[in-house]
Amino acid sequence: VKARDHMLRFPLVPVKGVPLMNLIANVFDSISAFRPDPSDILVATYPKAGTTWTQEILDLLLHNGNAEACKRAPTPVRSPFLEIVPPPPIPSGLELLEKTDPPRIIKTHLPVQLVPAGFWEEKCKVIYCARNAKDNLVSYYFFDLMNQTQPEPGPFDGYIHKFMQGKLAWGSWYDHVKDYWAAREKKNILFIFYEDMKENPRREVERIMRYLNMSLSDEVINRIVDLTSFKNMKENPMSNYSCVPMPVFDETISPFMRKVTSFIGCDQDGQGHGHGRSSLKDLTVKSSKVLVLITA
Ligand code: A3P
Repeated sequence: VKARDHMLRFPLVPVKGVPLMNLIANVFDSISAFRPDPSDILVATYPKAGTTWTQEILDLLLHNGNAEACKRAPTPVRSPFLEIVPPPPIPSGLELLEKTDPPRIIKTHLPVQLVPAGFWEEKCKVIYCARNAKDNLVSYYFFDLMNQTQPEPGPFDGYIHKFMQGKLAWGSWYDHVKDYWAAREKKNILFIFYEDMKENPRREVERIMRYLNMSLSDEVINRIVDLTSFKNMKENPMSNYSCVPMPVFDETISPFMRKVTSFIGCDQDGQGHGHGRSSLKDLTVKSSKVLVLITA
């Protein structure tokens, strides 16, 4: 067990003040130097905010809702994770990107100030998905329990404080969400909310489609909404992360896709209020209230 712990559970090292896995920190210069193609699309999120969901919607949009085409490989192969450096022999994000032809859907958890300058210089489309702090934190906690490459989460009450102090991998949720929000107009970032996708997935799929200057038929949009429901993605081996083997992801501790959560924009029965889009204020004010309650 000791040898396994030593190989996995990589410690965090600050990169320009942001704690990142040491394997990522060691090669950060090569990550910063990455040159995307102008056709590449970047999906940026704080970990556990709805990355996989957004990636799946994008892949289906780019493939005209073709379910079979989007089952060609598991999510991390179809849509490489820019900065990830897994333990060998799993290829790094940069290695996978080299082997993938543009247009690529590239995932990152880097805060906006650490995103390689090439994305802004090439004017790539960038989609940021934010999730309320409480569900994001709980999801991250279960993920850190099951993902053996991240530092040991420890007891939940200590974990909440690490989250609030920005000490978890990829840093502060607050700064992450706030800084992308502040940059969204100048950098032409599409800012979406997990809670909005839950409340009205069709509306959000259409927003993403418009941002990509695409126009698909109602039938295709409906199919994409259906294929990206929680249930269908959980059952799809190409989107549910069952591809990541033990002992890296230990799904006996917690599955990657746990359950449908219900928070902002939803009544207790899970039905939407129909209020339309969340705002950053909604997300942070309601999140803070919940976090205060949890820590009290
Ligand atoms: P939970 O841990 O709350 O279940 P990420 O992809 O950023 O790692 O985020 C994973 C979280 O998004 C998990 O949250 C997962 O269940 C949720 N998720 C993934 N696909 C989803 C979908 N189609 N609908 C709702 N939630 C989804």
